[in-house]
Amino acid sequence: MPTLTYLGHSAFSVACTRGTVLIDPFLEGNPRASIKAKEAEADVILVTHGHGDHLGDAISIAKRTGATIVASFELAEYCAKQGAKVIDAHVGGTAHLPLGEAKLFNAVHSSSTDDGAYLGQPVSFVLQADGANIYHAGDTALFGDMGLIGDEFCLDVALLPIGGHYTMGVKDAVRAVKLLRPVLVVPMHYATFPHIHADPLEFKRLVERETRTECEVLRPGQSLEVLGRCEPAEEG
Ligand code: NI
Ligand code: MN
Repeated sequence: MPTLTYLGHSAFSVACTRGTVLIDPFLEGNPRASIKAKEAEADVILVTHGHGDHLGDAISIAKRTGATIVASFELAEYCAKQGAKVIDAHVGGTAHLPLGEAKLFNAVHSSSTDDGAYLGQPVSFVLQADGANIYHAGDTALFGDMGLIGDEFCLDVALLPIGGHYTMGVKDAVRAVKLLRPVLVVPMHYATFPHIHADPLEFKRLVERETRTECEVLRPGQSLEVLGRCEPAEEG
């Protein structure tokens, strides 16, 4: 089963049998990052959108490690132009990877470089690897089609923003849990910057009072084994 490690903000690494996935590796300039960009290992890097706190160090890590960046079309082209190996996909599509699959879904947000160049639609991902399904919501507001994601996948873990201001806050994230119905939820995208203060323990209390989902609050650098308690979708 994969090992999920929180790297701070919305950055995670997922160590799978056949390789390591980094998600939104914002490390340099991230006051809560648990590792430096030059220490990061990756075979695949999922990037939800172009904002600096998500694209982060993806391009430099991809170039150093040879990892493939998976992103929606415009963002993938932007990374490719800077010398990274990419898979461009788009919402509704699935990137087939040596270590598993990554399906792209909506996120209600925007996507641009920090100087304002348009980078297409922001996305969220379901990563399937080693029999586990992991959802990373990226930056998003609450949206009703999260229910479709919960219908399609039994999610072992959902990684959800709770910081408010730029994304959903605690109350909307609890509603997102009710739509996604994951076994476990881990809060992210809070406390990194002044505007996104939220109490992860309040989120945990509400989730565990109002839903059947467990909540694990991870400190940057902390890991958990993804247990894969969902039924396998298919054999082989
Ligand atoms: Ni953003
Ligand atoms: Mn963000």
